[in-house]
Amino acid sequence: MTPLSAPLAFHDFQPDADDFFQDAAHGLSKPQKELPAKYFYDERGSRLFDEICDAPEYYPTRTEIRLLQDYAPDIAAIIGARCVLIEYGSGSSRKVPLLLRALREPLAYVPVDICREYLLASSATIAAAHPHLAVTAVCADYTRLTHLPRAYPCARKVVFFPGSTIGNYTPMEAIRLLRNAARLVGEGGGMLIGVDLKKSPALLHAAYNDARGVTARFNLNMLARMNRELQTDFDLNNFAHHAYYHAARGRIEMHLCSLCTQTVRMAAHGFHFRAGETIHTENSYKYTVEEFQMMAEAADFKPMRVWTDARRLFSLHYLEAC
Ligand code: TRP
Repeated sequence: MTPLSAPLAFHDFQPDADDFFQDAAHGLSKPQKELPAKYFYDERGSRLFDEICDAPEYYPTRTEIRLLQDYAPDIAAIIGARCVLIEYGSGSSRKVPLLLRALREPLAYVPVDICREYLLASSATIAAAHPHLAVTAVCADYTRLTHLPRAYPCARKVVFFPGSTIGNYTPMEAIRLLRNAARLVGEGGGMLIGVDLKKSPALLHAAYNDARGVTARFNLNMLARMNRELQTDFDLNNFAHHAYYHAARGRIEMHLCSLCTQTVRMAAHGFHFRAGETIHTENSYKYTVEEFQMMAEAADFKPMRVWTDARRLFSLHYLEAC
């Protein structure tokens, strides 16, 4: 890993173990048990997530990277010179170099991620590769980000939000998130966002049930992380990964299914599970281009351009805040 280099600044608002405990206790007390997906991303979870992105069945990452490569000049032209690029959920920052390479004299890069270890390593690598770029890493839940650590009064601000992570929020939450982003970048600011498209359920199903079982390990890591950090006593052998496309809801649902009747302890709490009962861990909504554009408009963004691949698997939208 690259050591920290000069132009890198770091701001830490990482949620602590208390937040995790409260959120877990709250989610597991609901009739349909649930856990917030953001807690997938500890260091191991972030690593497993990178592995999912490389799975042959998981088409979104590959397709989005192709779109970024093929349309980099168009994207750079529409964004313009000297922008401040803010990335939500930057992870290992594998996609942003394609953009940074194409942009004209970008002023600053602000990666925002909930996993401190990942964020520090990847932002240091970017800073080292771009000596003229001010890199300000922010460890935070990006849905809570209301202002930038540094003001850039004249520069165009653009949020980069790849990976169809927007699909991991309900449409109502997604609109709220987009609206916050519109406010963050201000009038004339932009958003470059990757959105997975509606398609054959068989293709979708395969993408979330890879043959090597990486997605299953990623899902189960949530429970392993709770055992490590919250001293719960989940037996990972008693839960199974379950992901399927719910066509009427337009989303993949990811669950952890209890294989037997059991009670799991967390401090003074005991959470009872029936055999077959699930913990809902994540949604991944799929949108048509038009559906997504309607959401963007509801959030004070004007859709400016959309790029899709020939098979119409994935879309990349450029929106402007109004
Ligand atoms: N946001 C992407 C998606 O919904 C990536 C992702 C998030 C994902 N969590 C996941 C992929 C869990 C597979 C499994 O597709």
